Amino acid sequence: MDYRLGLIGYPVEHSLSPWIHESFMKQIAVKGSYTKYEIPLSDDFSKRIANIKKEGLQGFNVTVPYKQRIIPFLDKIDSIAGEIGAVNTVSFEDGLWVGYNTDGFGYLRSLEMEFPALMENTAIRILLVGAGGACRGIYHTFANAGFRNVDIANRTIEKAEDITKKHEKLNTKVFTLEEAAERTDQYDLIIQTSSVGMKPGIEEKIIQLDRLKKGAIVSDIVYQPIKTAFLKQAKESGAAIHFGHTMLLYQAQYAFEIWTGKRVPIDDMDKKLKLLLE
Ligand code: ATR
Repeated sequence: MDYRLGLIGYPVEHSLSPWIHESFMKQIAVKGSYTKYEIPLSDDFSKRIANIKKEGLQGFNVTVPYKQRIIPFLDKIDSIAGEIGAVNTVSFEDGLWVGYNTDGFGYLRSLEMEFPALMENTAIRILLVGAGGACRGIYHTFANAGFRNVDIANRTIEKAEDITKKHEKLNTKVFTLEEAAERTDQYDLIIQTSSVGMKPGIEEKIIQLDRLKKGAIVSDIVYQPIKTAFLKQAKESGAAIHFGHTMLLYQAQYAFEIWTGKRVPIDDMDKKLKLLLE
């Protein structure tokens, strides 16, 4: 069988997803394609989606800026994607277009691979920095996986509060960035979830990390550059660091599994992708 997969978004020209999914297909020796469908904001979105649906795809990924906009065009939404309010993977199942969100789960899987002992302990204290779409996905996935101490720090406090509403029992504390910088030493795991740090040549970091708990792990979902200013200062402060490109690999692994029923091992793709990005 030939797999026919794809990606919608804007821009998608430099997306790494074709490389990842084509590597998965090669690894399990199946034929197929992964097509980029660039949809500029000036295009008629519903017409483009209607045409893409006619292409005979098993599924497609959805990236910026369409993760919310795609929802009314789907027949069914998986519960976690519904909770997050965003879809990054669409699968054609028994005549229905079904929406999933693999970002948060992919992220947790990537952490589990590197730090299995840490992820077995749902009592660890976690700080999410930033409160955009990525934070929403990661927060709900931690909450659903039973983690009990997940706090959020953001420049705009209301956005962080809004994310916590669906999990009121968790008693998540929300902080400004300034407040969070004063208490970074309370956390076992600190995750930078915003796009700050992504601008080439600008060493921008969202909070200072000079005080860290012994044995802390610091993670950044930004993967370009691979070693952000945030991760550099974490390393200097003695933390173990977790790179953003692994989230990209594992969210793709889970999407591929939804489409094909096959979980392809990441193996050396982690190292290969890191080299591509360095
Ligand atoms: P989204 O995922 O919502 O599309 P994003 O750009 O990936 O957007 O991430 C937005 C997050 O980055 C928000 O938490 C935003 O803070 P606000 O909620 O206060 O806007 C944060 N962010 C972006 N630029 C920032 C900056 N210069 N300093 C601090 N936080 C910033």
